[in-house]
Amino acid sequence: MADANAISADQQVARIFEWRRGFNTIHLIDVGVRLGLFKALAETPGVAAEDIAARLGLHAPYVAVWCKTAYGMALLDADEGPRYRLAPHFDVILAAPSHPRYLGGYVRLGTDVAADDFKRCLDAFRTGSVKPFQGRGHDFNQAIAESTQGLQVVTAKKILPALEGLLARLETGGALLEVGCGTGNLLLQLAKAFPKARVIGVDIETDSLNVARAKIAAAGAKDRVEARQGPVASAVQADSVDAVVMIEVLHEIAPTLRPGVIRESAAALRPGGWLVIVDETYPTTLEEMRRPEFRFPLMTGFEELLWGNVIPTRQEQEELLRDAGLTGAIDRSIIGEGFTVLCTRKG
Ligand SMILES: C[S@@+](CC[C@H](N)C(=O)[O-])C[C@H]1O[C@@H](n2cnc3c(N)ncnc32)[C@H](O)[C@@H]1O
Repeated sequence: MADANAISADQQVARIFEWRRGFNTIHLIDVGVRLGLFKALAETPGVAAEDIAARLGLHAPYVAVWCKTAYGMALLDADEGPRYRLAPHFDVILAAPSHPRYLGGYVRLGTDVAADDFKRCLDAFRTGSVKPFQGRGHDFNQAIAESTQGLQVVTAKKILPALEGLLARLETGGALLEVGCGTGNLLLQLAKAFPKARVIGVDIETDSLNVARAKIAAAGAKDRVEARQGPVASAVQADSVDAVVMIEVLHEIAPTLRPGVIRESAAALRPGGWLVIVDETYPTTLEEMRRPEFRFPLMTGFEELLWGNVIPTRQEQEELLRDAGLTGAIDRSIIGEGFTVLCTRKG
């Protein structure tokens, strides 16, 4: 008897077409972000395609097709005319680069970086070659900084203030350390969120550190905020900070180097200080590989294969913390599309 749950060939074909539409939609969004179409629609809702084209100096027939397609994919809504406006919430998601929900940077990471890496894949699969994170250049670093913005806001505004005892320390001469500070956006957010605290960032990527230092200087925050060249042990004294934060950094570090970085980060903490890791957790069982919360890390593992990145499993994360002497309870939660937040306290 036929299996009632068996998937049909037509359904499998439909899945491929769905993903292919996703591929086109991501490029449609990318065009809209880069050419300012979403921004124009956010500023003047209820506008005809030709008026947007005239305003932005674009070829009107192409903008008309863009609008129709975006309407078809429910990125835009429309009245008879048609006069277009953004569908709900896309004003912040696609037209407000400083908003925590903004995803223009993540889309760009796909169309710019991932698309290029996927082209190199065939050769890399034969040779095992990598093109590491460090040294990919300024535009790449900027795209990374844009794509992690939401996580940074959540860390500064929600995760850190909720940690027991931390606020009191930061209000009385305490210090925060960000390991893997990249271009320094979080450093400045932390300085703003905790106006009495010292904020130190450490990274090993020179271009990012230069951008971070320029931002710190431009913000007039040099007395309280610093971006230092790693490794952590040589950049920061032992027992000198009240929290260490790592956002999307652990999986960027080669597995052989991870124990050293976590040990040095733990050593930098004062007793009672917190280590906060926001990263991804790789599934380990077949059952986990199909669970929705592991989809994002699974895809990141594929997307960043050529960067040389290996996403840590839950077991590896826990061993790293334990081996660094952080033997207390580990608070583990999932946020957003599948980011893991790990918080643990030094005894
Ligand atoms: C994906 S980026 C994230 C940057 C930043 N935390 C953010 O949220 O935008 C990872 C960063 O970790 C840095 N990194 C990698 N290995 C490191 C190490 N051993 N010590 C310090 N930083 C490191 C990289 O250079 C890069 O800037």
